[in-house]
Amino acid sequence: MDFPFNRLRRWPDVEADNLQAYDATDLLLVERALSLGIDGREIAVIGDEYGAITLALTDAGLDGIRVHQDLATGRRALARNAAELDLAGFSSHELDATLLDGVRLVLLQLPKALAELEQIADAVTRWAAPDAVLVAGGRVKHMTIAQNEVLGRSFAEVQAERAVRKSRLVVASAPSPAPSDPPFPVTARHDGLVLVAHGGAFAGARLDIGTRVLLEALRQAQGPRQPQGPRQPQELRQAQGPSGGQASSAGWVAEPVEATPAETVVDLGCGTGALAASYALAHPESRVIATDRSAAAVASARATVAANGVADRVTVMHDDAGSELADASADAVLLNPPFHLGNSVHTGAATRLFEAAARILRPGGELFTVYNSSLGYRAELTRLVGATEQVHRTPKFTVTRSIRR
Ligand SMILES: C[S@@+](CC[C@H](N)C(=O)[O-])C[C@H]1O[C@@H](n2cnc3c(N)ncnc32)[C@H](O)[C@@H]1O
Repeated sequence: MDFPFNRLRRWPDVEADNLQAYDATDLLLVERALSLGIDGREIAVIGDEYGAITLALTDAGLDGIRVHQDLATGRRALARNAAELDLAGFSSHELDATLLDGVRLVLLQLPKALAELEQIADAVTRWAAPDAVLVAGGRVKHMTIAQNEVLGRSFAEVQAERAVRKSRLVVASAPSPAPSDPPFPVTARHDGLVLVAHGGAFAGARLDIGTRVLLEALRQAQGPRQPQGPRQPQELRQAQGPSGGQASSAGWVAEPVEATPAETVVDLGCGTGALAASYALAHPESRVIATDRSAAAVASARATVAANGVADRVTVMHDDAGSELADASADAVLLNPPFHLGNSVHTGAATRLFEAAARILRPGGELFTVYNSSLGYRAELTRLVGATEQVHRTPKFTVTRSIRR
C-alpha cells in the first residue's frame, strides 16, 4: 500500500509534534479491508478520525465507502484531506440506517467510552446485513476486556487478534438480533433538570461534578436576573421542573423571574446541554446557543432542551469551537472545557475554547469557566480573554469569571 498517510492533516483539530493524523490501527484496518476483497459499497467506516481509513481505501480503488465521524473537526479534516489528495467517491453519514443499510464489513476505530461502543454495536446489529462483520481496532494500551464484553452483547463471536505494531484488531461476527428498543439515548432527572444522553456524550445522563460546581457558582455570581425594585415574596418561588414538580433548593435550576433584556449566552462545548438547558430554564428572556463538535453531544443536547421544554429558546449547533458564531455576538459564555484530546492529555483543546470564547464575547461580556484546580488556567484566561477572578472553589474545582477586554 503506497498511500501517502504522512500528507494527512488533523486541521482544524489541534496540531502538535506529538499528535498525528493517523496511527498503526488505521493501517491495520485498511490492510484487513483490502485483504477481504469486499466491495466498497458494502463497507462502512466508523470513527475515522481524520479520514485515513476512508481515503486510503478510496485511493486503493474502492468506491462507495460510507463513513461516520462523530466530530465536526474530523469531518472537516476528512473533507480537506480528500480535496488535497484529489480523492472522491465516498459519502458521510450520521450513525443511522443510511450508514449501515446492506453493509457487510464495518471498520471501527474503537471509541474511548464503552457506552459509545455499545451504541455503535447496536446500530450494526440493527441496520447492517445479517452476515455483517465488525472489525474494531485500537492501540493496545487503550484497549480493555470490557470492550470485548460490550461487543459480546451484540455479536455471538468476538475474537481478539495478536497485537501488531502496538495495535490490535478485534473481530466481531454473527450479529445477534437487535433488541426492539435501542439502548440509547438514556434519560435521567436531576432536581428539576432532565438530561438525555447518546452513548458518545460526555458524562452520559449524569450531571458531571464540574458542571454542578459551575451551576452553583452561576447561581451565586449572577443569581436570577433581577426586575426593578425590591423582590416580592411571590418572586422567591422555586423553579418548576419539566415534570411540573418543584426543584429543591439544591436543584440545578435557578429561580425564574420577570422579564429583563434578552441576552445571548453560549454554552461552548455543551455535551448533553446541561448548562444550556439549566440557564434557559432560569432566564426565560435569554437566548441560548449550545454548541459542540461531537454529533453525539449535539443529538443529546437537542433531546435535553426538548425534554426541558426550552427547545424554542436554545439553538444547538454542531460546530468546531463555535466557528459559525459571529465575533462579539455573545453576552456570556459558559465553559466546562475538555482536557483530553482523544486518548492523549493535551491542554490545547481547552486553549482553543478560551480563544473561541474571547472571539465570540462582546467587550465586557463574561466567560464563566470551571476546571480542575490543578490545571491553573487563570493566567491563560487573563491573557486570552481579560481580567479573571475566582468566583467559587471546591476541594477539586475552581470557577472563574473573565471579563472580555
Ligand atoms: C468536559 S465536557 C463538558 C460538557 C458540558 N458542557 C457539561 O458541562 O456537561 C467538554 C465538551 O467540549 C466538547 N469540545 C471539545 N473540543 C471542542 C471544540 N473544539 N469545539 C466544540 N466542542 C468541543 C466535547 O465534545 C465535550 O462535549
